Amino acid sequence: MTPKADATDRYSERMPSLGLSERIDSAVCAAINTARDGAAPARLSAALDYATKPGGARIRPTILLSVSVACGDDQPQIADAAAAALELMHCASLVHDDLPCFDNAETRRGKPSVHRAFSEPLAVLTGDSLIMLAYEVLARTGTIDPARASQLVLALARRSGMPNGICAGQGWESEAKIDLSAYHRSKTGALFIAATQMGAIAAGEEPEPWFELGDRIGEAFQVADDLRDALMAAEDIGKPVGQDARHGRPNSVNLLGVDGAVSRLKDILGGAIASIPSCPGEAMLAHMVTQQARRLIPMTAQSQQA
Ligand code: IPE
Ligand code: IPE
Ligand code: MG
Ligand code: MG
Repeated sequence: MTPKADATDRYSERMPSLGLSERIDSAVCAAINTARDGAAPARLSAALDYATKPGGARIRPTILLSVSVACGDDQPQIADAAAAALELMHCASLVHDDLPCFDNAETRRGKPSVHRAFSEPLAVLTGDSLIMLAYEVLARTGTIDPARASQLVLALARRSGMPNGICAGQGWESEAKIDLSAYHRSKTGALFIAATQMGAIAAGEEPEPWFELGDRIGEAFQVADDLRDALMAAEDIGKPVGQDARHGRPNSVNLLGVDGAVSRLKDILGGAIASIPSCPGEAMLAHMVTQQARRLIPMTAQSQQA
């Protein structure tokens, strides 16, 4: 066996014993370290670190890796790169979303938002750099499997830009009348669709059958976020609350009420489990969705409904 093949084997033997959160953290750290190398400007370099560590719930890359594992995870290096790229894109979207020209949020993940801790120009550049880095990480997987690499780039681009990605979602906020379902699906749902589809692609499967699961988890997540925004305190969730009311944005709670939103959330999650495509890890995935669901529904809403 050549030293390279030997190293690859040792790597793949080691990976299953690593938990998903360790895989995600080490892939995100490795990516950020490449961006901070050499002659990088020190403040922007520090801002990249600040925006991505210690991170939030890492729910999108957890879903991505769970789908990849459910499909066999035959190329863990590609799955790890995909998970890191997706999380970097998500972190970029949060840095930009907090800027004064969007939500003007002072805190994120329990600490000052990037523009408050560094500056507005550095926050714009942090978001931009993270987006570029996400695609760089995916492009590098082309040396392992060019077809999977290009499918991953396409999947992430479709769910980040226009007409169906995060940019479209944020763009709806500049329209006189917001289409709530298109707004939520692109602002929040898009990266959950990317999560399930990129997990499938990373493991060599077709992405289409995985659209519905990501779409439903994304919708559930947005309803849960609306409930948190309406019911919880800023210190509990580490970011400003009451944002939807303040910015006059439509959301599930003012549309359906708290009980209606909790029932809706439960219905969507039931549908999500039913939509899991047949694969070796189907039961494990159903368990993962149930577990995430428990974390999603704010306790305040659960007790209000009881
Ligand atoms: C917040 O997402 C942004 C929304 C789409 C509502 P998360 O709640 O997943 O944020 P982190 O990554 O855990 O901080
Ligand atoms: C953030 O949406 C979604 C994106 C960054 C695309 P929100 O503005 O509703 O989420 P929070 O409350 O700031 O996390
Ligand atoms: Mg926003
Ligand atoms: Mg916001």
